[in-house]
Amino acid sequence: MVIVRSIDELQEAKQALAGTIGFVPTMGALHQGHLSLIQRARKENDHLIVSIFVNPTQFLEGEDLDAYPRKDKADIKICDIAGVDILFMPSIEAMYEEDELCIGAPAIRGYVLEGEKRPGHFDGMLQVVMKLLNLSGASKAYFGKKDAQQLALIAQMVKNYFMDVSIVPCDIVRDEKGLALSSRNVYLEGDEKQRALALSRSLKKATKLVMAGEVDVETIQKEMRKVLEVTDEIEYTSIVDRAFKPLKTVEIGNTIILVAARVGKPRLLDNIWI
Ligand code: PAJ
Repeated sequence: MVIVRSIDELQEAKQALAGTIGFVPTMGALHQGHLSLIQRARKENDHLIVSIFVNPTQFLEGEDLDAYPRKDKADIKICDIAGVDILFMPSIEAMYEEDELCIGAPAIRGYVLEGEKRPGHFDGMLQVVMKLLNLSGASKAYFGKKDAQQLALIAQMVKNYFMDVSIVPCDIVRDEKGLALSSRNVYLEGDEKQRALALSRSLKKATKLVMAGEVDVETIQKEMRKVLEVTDEIEYTSIVDRAFKPLKTVEIGNTIILVAARVGKPRLLDNIWI
């Protein structure tokens, strides 16, 4: 594995690769969720590029940019063992210049749910993903369904800008109790880890209701909220189609049920695709 930190080094390292390239962008503090994307990309491509870059433009004022967990040494080891060919760990200066041309999230789908809670977050996220996809030269890029709205917006950007890369959605990895893995889970203290399980339990409850024939979105969300009462703040529950348009009734095969709640310090996200 080669570790590259500048754009020139990356371009040079890429020249040594012949065949298809798979790409997994991350912000580091790698866990089993990231690793599942890396392992899948390893299997499906001749070569594999992973990036670790805590992208400042997708953090809002007052968010955890400075405190965001950083584990470079462990991450490098994980990538090496996983068979990564190129690990791209750029500096902020390598990625950005002053007075940049910006890309904006779509006015509706980019500003509901996560986009409403974190206005501007998706602009910065799309900006860096556009850069990273272009730099990687990958034919396939892998993203987790864990960040379902992020995934949908990236797929839309690739479509709207006629970018020549396939976006591969990957399943959510959970711990043995059902908590969706996240770099921010390290902030959970004491009984918060237990209470955080309410997110996945609310989704299980929703699924159970759908299986029993309940398709009314209002009714399902009411039941979800009961399960979520043990969290510190329910930010939203939502039931949308795969393009993030709100639904009145669940459409099997085209529905995502989402939840965001705060438990202690971190905001936690989870969802299930039905
Ligand atoms: P990060 O939070 O590090 O996540 C990198 C990728 O791992 C994303 O595609 C995310 O959805 C996926 N992932 C995280 N937890 C997962 C889990 N439990 N199961 C499956 N996949 C999971 O998302 C970002 O970084 C950034 O916004 C990025 C796309 C890198 C742009 O800066």
